[in-house]
Amino acid sequence: MTLDAIMRVPYLALDRHFDHDELAAALRSHLTNTDFVLGESVTRFEQEFARLSGSEYAVGVNSGTDALFLALKALDIGPGDEVVTAPNSFIATAGAIVAAGARPVFADVGADYNLDPERVAAAITPRTRAILPVHLTGNPAPMPTLLALAGQRGLALIEDAAQAVAATLDGKSVGAFGSAGCFSLHPLKNLPVGGDGGVVTTSSAELAERLRRLRNHGLRNRDEIAHFGFNSRLDSMQATIARFGLARLAAITESRRRHAARYDALLAGVGGVVIPPRRANAHQVFHTYVVQVEARDALMTYLAGQGIDTKIHYPIPIHLQAPCRDLGYGPGDFPVCEDQARRILSLPINEHLTDAQIDHVADCIRRFYSH
Ligand SMILES: Cc1ncc(COP(=O)(O)O)c(C=O)c1O
Repeated sequence: MTLDAIMRVPYLALDRHFDHDELAAALRSHLTNTDFVLGESVTRFEQEFARLSGSEYAVGVNSGTDALFLALKALDIGPGDEVVTAPNSFIATAGAIVAAGARPVFADVGADYNLDPERVAAAITPRTRAILPVHLTGNPAPMPTLLALAGQRGLALIEDAAQAVAATLDGKSVGAFGSAGCFSLHPLKNLPVGGDGGVVTTSSAELAERLRRLRNHGLRNRDEIAHFGFNSRLDSMQATIARFGLARLAAITESRRRHAARYDALLAGVGGVVIPPRRANAHQVFHTYVVQVEARDALMTYLAGQGIDTKIHYPIPIHLQAPCRDLGYGPGDFPVCEDQARRILSLPINEHLTDAQIDHVADCIRRFYSH
């Protein structure tokens, strides 16, 4: 059968998210009102995002990476400090810690892909200043345990919620547990903009003020700086795109959750496949739908031949990346993470897929393992 004759299942359908006259008109108005940087739409977006994420304040910045970097800077974390984080994240998590001048210290993860609190406790040293859990795949990390640990040891808790906008645990939004929540608006995320963008949430007025200054050169007013800062402002057009997405986020999340439930039902019991872990108290938003499988690379190739795009998030754990050798890490340090990296596969779960496309993916996986 040729590829043209079979059902295609794309990993992404971003064009369908953005292709709306209403959005085009809103963006066009920026070209004539010249409201380009930190304008009215940024302020409105920040108010709406704070409401959504259960925090008092939201500060728009120019990427999820900068959200992490600026949160660390705002908490005065830098040279000489250690931050305990997960080795199975996107490289930006550790990269932001290094950019702030601190040292990333990794701890292994659990079966849910999130930091294992016991491993975190064992990784804390007198130099540790913060714990930085990642809500990987859109599944909340075990926040009550991590929060208690941070409290006992006098540490800050910064959440990498880049993949988890709108996820909740025990009814509370991710990003609202720790001192700061860091979100990405990258086009691949559940709430995408047309370029780079990010948000930091906090319920501390002081931290919010520091973040607002840090993202804009440390300016206290037009002419005076309180301290040196950075240029990490959110563009007004991106804020307008983000507001357009916010109005649709509940539907996007619901669609992804429905696809996940369908995959769960179709794949449970297929030999060689482990479906994502579920917790009754967690509202998972399925930025990715990650299965663990036998013969992962062969399955990926087979699915590509059936018109199905899959991805691996992420094939090389951060502690095995070249610069982490200088930090003293090597193979075998985090066996759970390393075993998962060999077995994980992200199935397409974008909100525009149909039930028939999900069924096609599950059918092909079943067929692959029945041979
Ligand atoms: C877990 C995680 N942290 C941080 C980031 C960085 O976000 P951004 O690409 O917006 O800088 C990403 C996304 O790429 C991510 O998935």
